Amino acid sequence: MVLKILLLLSIILQLIAVLTAIKLTKITKFNFSWMLFTIALTSMAFMRCGEYLQLVGDKNMKLPTDFFVWLGATTSVCFAVGVFFVKKIFNNITISNHIKAQTEKRILSAILSTEEKERWRFSKELHDGLGPLLSSTKMSLTALKKDELSQYNNDIVNNTLYVLEEAIRSLREVSNNLSPHTLTDFGLARATQNFINRSTKGSDIEIKFSTNLKKERFDTEVEVILYRVICELINNSLKHAQCSNITLKLFYENSIIFINYKDDGKGFNPQAVMDVGMGLSNINSRISSLKGQCEIVSSPDNGMYTNITVDISNNERGKI
Ligand SMILES: Nc1ncnc2c1ncn2[C@@H]1O[C@H](COP(=O)(O)OP(=O)(O)O)[C@@H](O)[C@H]1O
Ligand SMILES: [Mg+2]
Repeated sequence: MVLKILLLLSIILQLIAVLTAIKLTKITKFNFSWMLFTIALTSMAFMRCGEYLQLVGDKNMKLPTDFFVWLGATTSVCFAVGVFFVKKIFNNITISNHIKAQTEKRILSAILSTEEKERWRFSKELHDGLGPLLSSTKMSLTALKKDELSQYNNDIVNNTLYVLEEAIRSLREVSNNLSPHTLTDFGLARATQNFINRSTKGSDIEIKFSTNLKKERFDTEVEVILYRVICELINNSLKHAQCSNITLKLFYENSIIFINYKDDGKGFNPQAVMDVGMGLSNINSRISSLKGQCEIVSSPDNGMYTNITVDISNNERGKI
């Protein structure tokens, strides 16, 4: 009795497995392995049916031995050959995962470069459009000052000149933040030094910056991304770390750019803060768009340490 139930159960399960294999045949675009598995599972179900019929039917009824031998052999051959074809499915999965990762990187890279182009366009518009207008207004006002003016009018002109100078200075700053002219004109090392000078003005924090970069220039995309990453690291230390010392090393050797960054601040748990802001995750995605490596090491009370390497020979355009 138990054997009968077991045989019935195995027939039902095998038929379900046959249906699943047929479905997988369609999903895997008629991969040969699933067709072979379907045949093997069907012939196994037939074998179980034969055994069941023998068990419940006339005791003298005997199914031909050939029936079982043929089905058994078909099952073995189909399973054995099917396994070889399954390998092809895994190869295809690996290839499609690789293509997906490449596409994601390309999309990210396109987003970053569009963002940079927009920043550059906006910065140029401010610098070349609004800048000269403000400067010529200042010139006219300065000319007006040469005339004999009443004390009251003179005060108004002086005040307007002061406000205009502030506006020109802040326009230059905004335009420079949007797209640093030093980076475009003089490269990564000089732009980094400029940024350090501007950010530590009037602060007690000391940034020790060392580099072996002289006049080397890299592709604009590489320079802009690394500059933005360095700025974010420095801004984070100034904003969150309560540190007193920052060390930044920027080195270039054998077509690899190394950035070592360290602060002696209060540290943080990198896993716990990944969703807090966009800064750290942007660093990771920017570096990965250059096919580089980025490691952020930190723990509470132990400061933070970042090691970044970018092999520019991995990038379509590297050193120029
Ligand atoms: N150098 C650092 N020292 C201490 N904490 C930091 C440092 N850098 C980042 N953090 C922590 O990680 C969080 C996330 O940083 P980030 O992604 O740059 O976002 P945001 O700067 O906008 O807060 C910060 O809010 C801060 O708590
Ligand atoms: Mg930040």
